[in-house]
Amino acid sequence: MALLTGCNKVRTAVFISGTGSNLKSLIKFSKSKKSPISINFIISNNSEAKGLNYAKIFKIKKKVLNFTNKKLSENNLILILKKNKIEMILLAGFMKILSKNFIKKFKGKILNIHPSLLPKYKGLNTHSRVLNNSEKYSGCTVHFVNSKLDSGKIILQKKVKISKDETAGSLARKILIQEHKLYPKAILKIFNL
Ligand code: GRF
Repeated sequence: MALLTGCNKVRTAVFISGTGSNLKSLIKFSKSKKSPISINFIISNNSEAKGLNYAKIFKIKKKVLNFTNKKLSENNLILILKKNKIEMILLAGFMKILSKNFIKKFKGKILNIHPSLLPKYKGLNTHSRVLNNSEKYSGCTVHFVNSKLDSGKIILQKKVKISKDETAGSLARKILIQEHKLYPKAILKIFNL
């Protein structure tokens, strides 16, 4: 990613589908002096997403697109992002798969966070699959998005130890705490900061 010039932050959109705890931590990070990004748009496929409340709290523009017609929604999305001069996209618990065409338009500018140590446990229900396989460690990964699910170049990972009495819920909570730290670190890393 190109180095920043002057004091302009890179205009960024965050895509969510649910709680938005990563969104919240990214907004806080974006407001810090060291952040190379500003968060200027929130996109959700789910009008009930709790994370949409952060749009109001932090006065950030938002748009809900239902993705029932993916092509139409994505075309609409591209127009919105262009109009708002969005240069970077952060997926944070976004449950829709973006098309190859969309990803091509933002090549190298879309990041995702996944709650496993990729390339292991791509896709959904990661925590229960990890526990079923009696893994000793799990974790989270920030990676670039390419056209294959959870398969783009890895930027950073954080490992967590699985305890004896771990449940999918306790593991999810443990990993989420690390996610909130890892995503900002990964952003600093791609900007060479
Ligand atoms: C996170 O665990 C993220 O890794 C996964 O979905 C969850 C979203 O949590 N893709 P939140 O909405 O950021 O709280």
